Amino acid sequence: MATNRTLTMIKPNAVKSGHVGAILEKIAASGFRIVALKMTQLTLDDAKKFYDVHANKPFYEDLCGFMTSGPIVAAILEKENAVEDFRTLIGSTDPEEAAEGTLRKKYAESKSRNAVHGSDSNDNARIEAGFHFSRREQF
Ligand code: RTP
Ligand code: MG
Repeated sequence: MATNRTLTMIKPNAVKSGHVGAILEKIAASGFRIVALKMTQLTLDDAKKFYDVHANKPFYEDLCGFMTSGPIVAAILEKENAVEDFRTLIGSTDPEEAAEGTLRKKYAESKSRNAVHGSDSNDNARIEAGFHFSRREQF
């Protein structure tokens, strides 16, 4: 996969609250092309694997429980400088620190229920895209 792609997940709280359409619209309006898209629900094993890098953090169990609590929407997004630009669009992990106009400022309930995920590096974007999508689901 090219390095101008990133992986996002619209998290269970934002899906439950009916914000999928508005979030995808904002993503598209911000210049990202959706090249893969699905609604799915993570198993506990899936979530533990996806967030393995946080396995020793105090919030790991809560994070995995939350991320498996309902359906999510996963997508691969393409744009120049996708990883960095998407993290700018979503804003800080804690919505209280997130800039005005960012997705987390608008849709996050808290630091742990922060509405949207974005990959943090090109390498992780590739790994996370492969986690959610087979080759023939990526366009
Ligand atoms: P993400 O991976 O979801 O895009 O978020 P991020 O890079 O901004 O934050 P990261 O440090 O990777 O943390 C992953 C997710 O774990 C939850 N978290 N809770 N209660 C807490 O102190 C805490 N810290 C992190 C959040 O859901 C965060 O998005
Ligand atoms: Mg992260």
